[in-house]
Amino acid sequence: MKVGVVGAGTMGRGIGQVFAQAGHNVRIIDVSPDALNFARKDIANSLERLEKKGKIKETPEEIMKRIELLNSVESLEEMDMVIEAVFERLNIKQETLKSISSVVRDDTIIGSNTSSISIDVLSGSVKNRERFLGIHFFNPVPVMSLVEIVPSQSTSRDVLEKSRDILVSIGKDPVFSKNFPGFISNRILMPLIREAILTYEQGIASPADIDKTFRLGMNHPMGPLELADFIGLDVCYDIMEVLYRDFGEPSFKPPITLKNMVDGGYFGRKSGKGFYDYEVKK
Ligand SMILES: NC(=O)c1ccc[n+]([C@@H]2O[C@H](COP(=O)([O-])OP(=O)(O)OC[C@H]3O[C@@H](n4cnc5c(N)ncnc54)[C@H](O)[C@@H]3O)[C@@H](O)[C@H]2O)c1
Repeated sequence: MKVGVVGAGTMGRGIGQVFAQAGHNVRIIDVSPDALNFARKDIANSLERLEKKGKIKETPEEIMKRIELLNSVESLEEMDMVIEAVFERLNIKQETLKSISSVVRDDTIIGSNTSSISIDVLSGSVKNRERFLGIHFFNPVPVMSLVEIVPSQSTSRDVLEKSRDILVSIGKDPVFSKNFPGFISNRILMPLIREAILTYEQGIASPADIDKTFRLGMNHPMGPLELADFIGLDVCYDIMEVLYRDFGEPSFKPPITLKNMVDGGYFGRKSGKGFYDYEVKK
């Protein structure tokens, strides 16, 4: 297949990589030249790590040959499937989906990797809504096998089944969720992260002790604040805003500490600063 990915950030890079690993030809699009340069290096590094662990059958160079990094959606004309993975902002996703559906064939499957925005709302920006659905991957995409598949009211059964088969063929293990804010995962995860941030904000415990509680007490591999840094604090903030607006319940309201951190450029692991300090990869 020819697969397009729009957005070369944390998720787009991983999505492009797993399709290329499975033998598909991939075009990854981003408006930022820095994001495209970093994506090339990051995917090559990830493939080298997988090669060392004996997890890929081809060399990283052979897989990289199937990945093109480009700056315009115009180059997606011949794609069989396109996944949108741009910022979690409604207007940016709507514009992006409009331009994708104006260049691809009428039967090209279009998926959005949105974490929280309504698939029915997004489907309004796609010509032929029946070929559009939510395909929500998990970070880091090459490692996490889960994908949430989320149909809109218009998604055809054929597109749903084809998408599931494609995802299984690239090594993913999907679950189905109705289109409801946060689907399954973020509806449950975001209130946990929110409470962890409030526990820190209220001076009840340090980030290290909050995370230790979940690692040692609940057997989570990462505590909620470590996980928030890993997901991206800006991404968590955007998801909470959507959940708060759509459910209208205070249990989803983004904490002020989170807003202050994001306003101040503390995006977590990717920016070097979050609840913890990190070395930033360039
Ligand atoms: N980070 C996570 O753990 C995670 C997990 C699952 C889903 N998601 C979702 O995936 C999507 C992307 O998240 P991310 O963490 O990769 O974000 P990110 O900030 O790392 O990357 C987004 C990329 O989109 C690019 N972009 C923005 N507007 C664009 C446009 N019009 N055309 C092309 N590229 C454009 C940006 O330059 C950036 O490189 C969001 O919808 C997010 O909610 C994120």
